[in-house]
Amino acid sequence: MTDEKQLSGKIAVVTGAGRGLGRSIAIAYAGAGADLAICSRTRAELDAVKLEAEALGVHCLVAAVDLSDPDATKSFCDSILAEFGKVDIVVNNAGAELEIRPIADSDPDRWWKTVEINVRGPYLVTRFLLEGIADGGKIINVTSGMGKRAGNDNSAYHISKAAINMFTNALANELWQRKIDVNNLIPGPVATGMLNRDAVTGKKSTPDEILEKFAKNPPERFPPWERLKHPDEIGELALYMATRPIGGPNGQDFSIARRPLG
Ligand SMILES: NC(=O)c1ccc[n+]([C@@H]2O[C@H](COP(=O)([O-])OP(=O)(O)OC[C@H]3O[C@@H](n4cnc5c(N)ncnc54)[C@H](OP(=O)(O)O)[C@@H]3O)[C@@H](O)[C@H]2O)c1
Repeated sequence: MTDEKQLSGKIAVVTGAGRGLGRSIAIAYAGAGADLAICSRTRAELDAVKLEAEALGVHCLVAAVDLSDPDATKSFCDSILAEFGKVDIVVNNAGAELEIRPIADSDPDRWWKTVEINVRGPYLVTRFLLEGIADGGKIINVTSGMGKRAGNDNSAYHISKAAINMFTNALANELWQRKIDVNNLIPGPVATGMLNRDAVTGKKSTPDEILEKFAKNPPERFPPWERLKHPDEIGELALYMATRPIGGPNGQDFSIARRPLG
């Protein structure tokens, strides 16, 4: 008998881990015994997640970083490798939708900033950690069904998630010889501030408040047979993905959406 946990001895990097999906993923990994390195721009949220993780008995490095800033992102990645010497799991989760308007009305700077956060961020984190990712590691890119089919008024987000789907494929082709598996996590609608458009209203809603608000139907942009999920369900999926054995899936989509994607 051993009481070793599934991710004991592993180092997991989770971006955008201050709230929403990233927080749930980080806590699921901490519960499975992984030490963590987490970032976002809001230090207070990160400190709260660090406390939760440490209560589960793991070490947690935090950094307030804007992932669209290459220098700050490189410092974060360098500090992880200096602290832990290696990385086993990278979850490129941080994301934003800053310009929810038709292209004709869009602000070019906010449109491009969305692409920078959603595409340049995962590229930079992966690029700066790549040498330190242990053979047999996992890269999990949090993308979206919206990267497979365009809706209205959110083109920068659609484009950026489509780009990440292809980034996953390119990485999967490049890294298989190191036995590093690279897969997409496509959550479907989840009760987070992003889905609730908290950035527009200035609110900070909890998952339970958002679930209550949409209790009867998911938000209008989804068909009625979609189901709004608690972010902890995505933590479970991310844990499943991180614990696949060597030789498991590579270059694949993992989703708990309920509508056909693509
Ligand atoms: N919620 C959904 O229904 C849904 C569906 C499909 C895909 N997703 C994807 O899931 C991921 C997480 O989204 P979420 O729903 O959990 O949203 P969220 O609650 O708004 O969390 C987003 C996280 O990313 C961080 N972040 C945003 N911009 C950043 C930047 N420039 N640099 C560093 N960190 C940054 C945020 O922290 P700061 O603001 O403090 O930086 C926050 O921690 C995103 O990639 C999103 O596209 C979500």
